[in-house]
Amino acid sequence: EIGAIADKSQIRAYLIGGIIRDLLLGKGNNDIDIVVDGNPVELIKQLSDFFSAKVLYNEQFKTGSIKFADGLNIDLAGTRRENYHYPGALPEVTETNIFEDLFRRDYTINALAVALNSDKWGRMIDYFGGQKDLAEKKLRALHRFSFLDDPTRVIRGIRLASRLKFDFEKETEDLAREAVLAGDFSRLTSERIIKELELLFAEKINRRLLGLIKNIPVFKLLGIELAEGVDYWQQSTRLESWLEYLKEKNYNIEEWVLRLALFTDKLKKKDIVDWNLKERYKDILSFYLTARDLIETLDNDLDDLRLVDMLNEYKLEELVILLVKSGKVMVEKNIRRYINELKGIELAISGFDLKELGLNPGPVYKDIFDRVYRARLKGEVSTHQ
Ligand code: CTP
Repeated sequence: EIGAIADKSQIRAYLIGGIIRDLLLGKGNNDIDIVVDGNPVELIKQLSDFFSAKVLYNEQFKTGSIKFADGLNIDLAGTRRENYHYPGALPEVTETNIFEDLFRRDYTINALAVALNSDKWGRMIDYFGGQKDLAEKKLRALHRFSFLDDPTRVIRGIRLASRLKFDFEKETEDLAREAVLAGDFSRLTSERIIKELELLFAEKINRRLLGLIKNIPVFKLLGIELAEGVDYWQQSTRLESWLEYLKEKNYNIEEWVLRLALFTDKLKKKDIVDWNLKERYKDILSFYLTARDLIETLDNDLDDLRLVDMLNEYKLEELVILLVKSGKVMVEKNIRRYINELKGIELAISGFDLKELGLNPGPVYKDIFDRVYRARLKGEVSTHQ
């Protein structure tokens, strides 16, 4: 249908990017990218009439997107060239043809297009050997400057390789490593890097991913140093099984932050104050470095009240970090007991409630509360409604 509409408007339209890659791999993808030679406005208008679907149109970038209720999303844009003025800059965009539109992209497997007009319908456009690389499961950059133009592509590449079980082609891996080590990315915002890391760590960590980040030190883009001698494979397997367990128990947990936190043993809060990131995430990412004393205390036999007193102030994510990273059986036992049996047990009234009512509780109230609380922890009393 899109081809027929493009025919009528005399524009050349192509299906392009990740969707072709995933189609050739036999995988599903709900994001359909279409580019047209020239200005896409006309096609966007006609398509929205045809599908009678809602279209979001961006005047400045001349791009449009159509969202369907079942999750399908079609993005439309004109073919364009991107010029990067410095490493990590947002590109200056100019109109161009399909070749240059493909040439500006990251990897050969993402630089495939299929013609949609009726005269050439279904014809594959493959200037850079993308089909061959797909068959050989290789990730190959389109040109030497790809990562200097946009270093976030290194992280995208690691995500693709680990998801699709592909290898970086040797020279591409070298380029990626060199770019990360030698590039001047001072003007690349932490926000863009973190957005890519969020996508990377939305998926489970596997061995391939760990191997890749050892060879290509992407965390350097954020100034993060990895700790020496950590068995990340062991830690990530433990993390994945905890995440699964907590999900079963209906805890709402920030998975990507926790996966990222595996690698931030040495991160200080003051190093990341400027990051455009929720305060809560900054706390989680910089938690481990400050947790030494807590781990030491938790490495003892503790009674319920003491445990609750100690752990109530921590986020669940922080406790999971301790579970995964401390490597101490006693610490794990204590936290497990806290999460499974004690967390969430609270008294129905507090001193604050009484204060609000003007009852001005003295120390005797605290004593009473503590005793009831302790009794509840022990199961000696239950709440009578
Ligand atoms: N692209 C690029 N450089 C980037 C981001 C994107 O060259 N930093 C190009 C790639 O050709 C990619 C296309 O833009 O295929 C669309 O990007 P996006 O929708 O983000 O990714 P997909 O490849 O569709 O992958 P995913 O399925 O993971 O979203």
